[in-house]
Amino acid sequence: MKIISAFEIHDNLINTIGKDWMLVTAGNREKFNTMTVSWGGTGILWNKPVAFTFIRPQRYTFDFIENNQYFTMSAYGDEFRNALKLCGTKSGRDIDKAKETGLIPVFTEEAPYFEQARLVLVCRKMYAQDLNEQSIIDSSILNSYNGNDYHRMYVSEIVRVLVNE
Ligand SMILES: Cc1cc2nc3c(=O)[nH]c(=O)nc-3n(C[C@H](O)[C@H](O)[C@H](O)COP(=O)(O)O)c2cc1C
Repeated sequence: MKIISAFEIHDNLINTIGKDWMLVTAGNREKFNTMTVSWGGTGILWNKPVAFTFIRPQRYTFDFIENNQYFTMSAYGDEFRNALKLCGTKSGRDIDKAKETGLIPVFTEEAPYFEQARLVLVCRKMYAQDLNEQSIIDSSILNSYNGNDYHRMYVSEIVRVLVNE
């Protein structure tokens, strides 16, 4: 894969995250997990290119993100739609997602991603905050929360971008 700067990303990341979906992956060679996300974004904060990621606390992946400084967000071609569906509907507590999907993990110093990815954002956590009821301005947001499972928002520096061209 080729390393590019975050400013050279060609993707419309609103489409990539919202429509194509991405995998969020954290952990190490001994133990890692991945899950599908379609909420989030990228931008600039504190003068750095950043990713915004929203993870509910009940996700198994949540523990891996909490316990590691880095995670990756990765995008795939259409042929992996079913793989991403599986990673977004099954828990790594119950199945080995890499084995079930055929996605091949690549381990780096920071966080794993999968060999088949077409775009990888390597993210270093900078800030985490739980969304909360008191901060809600538009009450329709409450429809997304039945229990007290407010997403934790992570703001992460995008420290490296890899593309498969
Ligand atoms: C298309 C799609 C998008 C999703 N986006 C998110 C998200 O942004 N945040 C989140 O917490 N869960 C999201 N999920 C749910 C998790 O991917 C799902 O609960 C997954 O099974 C968690 O796996 P884990 O328990 O192995 O971490 C999404 C699921 C799908 C199918």
